[in-house]
Amino acid sequence: MRNRFNTAAIIIALSAVALLNIGTSKAFETKTTAKKVTFSKDVAPIIYKSCAECHRAGEAAPMSLLSYKDVRPWAKAIREKIVKREMPHWDADPNFGKFSNDARLTQAQIDTIVSWIDQGAPEGNPKDTPPVPKFTEGWAIGKPDLILSMKDEFTLEASGPDEYQYFEIPTGFTEDKYIQAVEARPGNRKIVHHIIAFIKAPQKENPNRPKFTREEMAKLRAEAEKASIQYQDGFLRRTKADAPGYNDGCSIPQDEYRKRRVQGGEGGDANNNWLVGYAPGNVVQPWEPGTVKKIPAGSSVIFQIHYSKVAGEVQKDRSSVGMIFAKGPAKKEVYMSGVSNPFMKLEPNKDNQRVSACWTADRDIHIISLTPHMHVRGTAQRIEAIFPDGKSQILLNVPTYSFAWQTTYLLTEPMQIPKGTKFLVTSVFDNSSKNKYNPAPDKAVRWGDPTYDEMMIGFIEYTVDSQTLNKPAKAAAAVSGSPTGQ
Ligand code: HEC
Repeated sequence: MRNRFNTAAIIIALSAVALLNIGTSKAFETKTTAKKVTFSKDVAPIIYKSCAECHRAGEAAPMSLLSYKDVRPWAKAIREKIVKREMPHWDADPNFGKFSNDARLTQAQIDTIVSWIDQGAPEGNPKDTPPVPKFTEGWAIGKPDLILSMKDEFTLEASGPDEYQYFEIPTGFTEDKYIQAVEARPGNRKIVHHIIAFIKAPQKENPNRPKFTREEMAKLRAEAEKASIQYQDGFLRRTKADAPGYNDGCSIPQDEYRKRRVQGGEGGDANNNWLVGYAPGNVVQPWEPGTVKKIPAGSSVIFQIHYSKVAGEVQKDRSSVGMIFAKGPAKKEVYMSGVSNPFMKLEPNKDNQRVSACWTADRDIHIISLTPHMHVRGTAQRIEAIFPDGKSQILLNVPTYSFAWQTTYLLTEPMQIPKGTKFLVTSVFDNSSKNKYNPAPDKAVRWGDPTYDEMMIGFIEYTVDSQTLNKPAKAAAAVSGSPTGQ
């Protein structure tokens, strides 16, 4: 009896275990086929990390994505954009280079958002939502120590061609300053296509410089304009239609640059008056501690602003540059080389036209970022390093360049480059009618400021290894606020 009872008990116990097993495996199964995905727990962390930076008030994107309420109406559009990998936008080929601002979603993140939308995009428990990320209002670099703004609001008329306008803003610096971060911000995103801010250091008086009368100066200037391949067309600088055309910029005799009075090619290194650029989709970050940009005492900052008009609407703009002073000792200065080919000439009605430019580093350097720049006919760009031992490496490959997104590719680790390394920048252009952005496929196209002309630049931002600035930067509090208000 005892035995039988025991056996029965064992059987009952076993069946209970079996039942339990069925129960758990069933529960497990339903969980995997339709894991409940909620905004609060699963989706918000992805959106806050990869989208919110642009999708918030006052930034480049058309709508804010900071809460369930914000995101829910956009669920369908979000699904489409992330499945097609159009958002976050990223043009670089993942096989070359590692970039810290690479915002592409992983397949797992895409799957999570897609199954959330397929389940009706539920909110879940609002208590699970992570805190909304903190952004410094307006400035990606953090609160600037100094903001330099255009003195007056600029008024842009409602019709006519694009305009390049220049504004000079004094820094008020009475001593050399070292900055850790700098950012340009458009006042009116509807019309500001881009901003490039340059440093204009005070000119040293050269007592040996011959003195010219006003008439002599004008004559010299006119002669220089005649020799140059470029001319001034209203607000715009353009290459002359009949200037010699070279698409293989690396084979242009260097003399030609001097004779023709243009910067570019090997002359790229002359660009150290570059301060910062802004264009839609561009991301700026402070440099590593110790890596700085020097602004000499008495300098001004020149804004070059490319304005595009809004048909039928008079618009106003007052743009700014914000900077953060270096707090620790300054070790390395940042330089920008714009490797470009202003001699380029595109044939009409032809796609797949290649244009190249070269620059050789004359010192040991570390590259920190790369920025391709072309206008609307640009379709691809590759930046390659050819080392002194003959080996070469592709640093950046952008197979689908998009003019609307002027991305700066920030290297995850600064890359060491020995003196004598040649950089080869190759761009591809489509000047055919297949290119839907092409305003005039029947015309030959030269270099120029307006978007209906072309440009071809590979910007290489770097530090110089041998530098020992070592000047401890003074406390930032010494200069604060802006001489021009704000
Ligand atoms: C670097 C800035 C930036 C980031 C990061 C970014 N976006 Fe965008 N987004 C934009 C801009 C600018 C537009 C408008 C231009 C366009 O549609 O290409 C846009 C447009 C969109 C649109 C289309 C809106 C419409 O009017 O139809 C959707 C949807 C979208 N983004 C979703 C996302 C999602 C989801 C993420 C993150 C996974 C994200 N974006 C990350 C800048 C950004």
